[in-house]
Amino acid sequence: GTHWILKKTVVLVGMMGAGKTAVGKALAARLSVPFLDSDAEIEKAANMTISEIFQRDGEAFFRARESEVIERLLDTQRGILSTGGGAFLSERNRQMMSDKGVSVWLNADLSLLWSRVKGKNTRPLLRTAHPYETLRKIYETRAPVYALADLNVAADPGYSIDDMAAEVEAAL
Ligand code: S3P
Repeated sequence: GTHWILKKTVVLVGMMGAGKTAVGKALAARLSVPFLDSDAEIEKAANMTISEIFQRDGEAFFRARESEVIERLLDTQRGILSTGGGAFLSERNRQMMSDKGVSVWLNADLSLLWSRVKGKNTRPLLRTAHPYETLRKIYETRAPVYALADLNVAADPGYSIDDMAAEVEAAL
């Protein structure tokens, strides 16, 4: 297969439903490098789901664990790192990600995001009376921040997960 040596971890950022996990796995497979996932690491360490952590300990607690996990992964491993949708909002996290890695915004449009997240109850932030409106507001607030990523890759709705992975690979 391929023999990629990553100089820096590739950090995928962007909204819930953008495909960070799926594209991250596909990209890691294409490059034969490890796949890392901050949400999965947090769940493993706490032995709880993200929803349970939000419910029991609150969002601020979750964000603190998230920053620790991302820092640890960036310091100890190189690979493709998928992060939770809120991770890039902290300036300190952004700094870490761009110093120790290369950040890539998977920019999917709102209708694609909604089609991927609707009906699932794994996203505590969308547990509101009007989840579509909530998603739209989150997208609008966050888009200018995600745009600060080192690379921006548009997730065209016609693309497959592997097309997206190829797109990111080409941008590296
Ligand atoms: C969040 C996104 C989730 C998870 C948590 C908060 C967010 O990850 O970290 O529910 O703030 O956008 P995904 O982006 O993988 O859904």
